[in-house]
Amino acid sequence: MGKIFSFFNQKGGVGKTTSVINIATVIANLGKKVLLIDLDSQGNATSGLGIEKNENESTAYQLLVENTDPKTIIKKTTIENLWAIPSNAHLAGAEMHLISQEKREFVLREQLEKISVEFDYIFLDCPPSLGLISINALTSSSYVVIPLQCEYYALEGLGQLLNTYQLVKKNLSSNLELGGVILTMADFRTNLTQQVIEEVRNYFKDKAFQTVIPRSVKLSEAPSFGKPAVLYDPHNRGAQAYVELGREFLSRFGSDEDRQNLSRQETVANLDTQTTTAQNSEPAPAGEQAQTTPSNT
Ligand SMILES: Nc1ncnc2c1ncn2[C@@H]1O[C@H](COP(=O)(O)OP(=O)(O)OP(=O)(O)O)[C@@H](O)[C@H]1O
Ligand SMILES: [Mg+2]
Repeated sequence: MGKIFSFFNQKGGVGKTTSVINIATVIANLGKKVLLIDLDSQGNATSGLGIEKNENESTAYQLLVENTDPKTIIKKTTIENLWAIPSNAHLAGAEMHLISQEKREFVLREQLEKISVEFDYIFLDCPPSLGLISINALTSSSYVVIPLQCEYYALEGLGQLLNTYQLVKKNLSSNLELGGVILTMADFRTNLTQQVIEEVRNYFKDKAFQTVIPRSVKLSEAPSFGKPAVLYDPHNRGAQAYVELGREFLSRFGSDEDRQNLSRQETVANLDTQTTTAQNSEPAPAGEQAQTTPSNT
């Protein structure tokens, strides 16, 4: 049975899509069968994986609204072990249709039950809202993963987010757990970033992943090439941080065997063979730590 994760934060632009695409790629590269479902009508995860949004007639809309068999919607990506269910602007109309459906909070869950056994991990890229699509994602999931931007307003809206999580857990899906908190877009030169990291770690304890993702131009550039950053430029420090985070993720949620394999496998070396832009690395700005995993102390 696949483990299902919602990458969720109703705040926009915090790194949900960037995180889910890159973690999915790293874990697929480590040999796990991964399905990434784009649940956002912006279709950023879709285009970020190099899938043409507007040519697709089989999307998350058909999954949620037309009850189409998910097996007929899943697309193989160009990345080994990684499949996707794309999305496009049609999905914007899905909330309206869902409202009138019976068991409207569980439409996705019932659909995913048909395929979850085929994957080791299913990742849901949620839209920046607390609407029915996000609720469907949460009720389908074993874990919620929250990306947070290392900025002044990062913690604003967190109360509302955690409240939604608690409400879903209490009323709709008691198995839902907080899987982890990802700190993104860190600028290690600033006190503010350090303060946010400290505050988040004090609050979430070991739920906060050790690996912190730095702000990096290459991470924001990769989607326009239809590639996850870990393949677009694997030696870039942002990509390296996602490789590290993917490994931390698998170590947290995988089996004992996965953890043993992780200590042996060289993910970066494997990723190297899939890219052509190895020389294209972005230099770290002066004063910025190359090491993206500051200690927890
Ligand atoms: N670590 C980073 N450094 C620099 N830019 C980043 C980083 N992470 C993400 N970005 C850029 O910031 C923007 C928002 O990121 P992303 O799309 O991953 O967030 P999101 O939470 O999925 O947004 P939305 O809520 O709109 O779906 C994108 O342009 C992305 O390329
Ligand atoms: Mg997004």
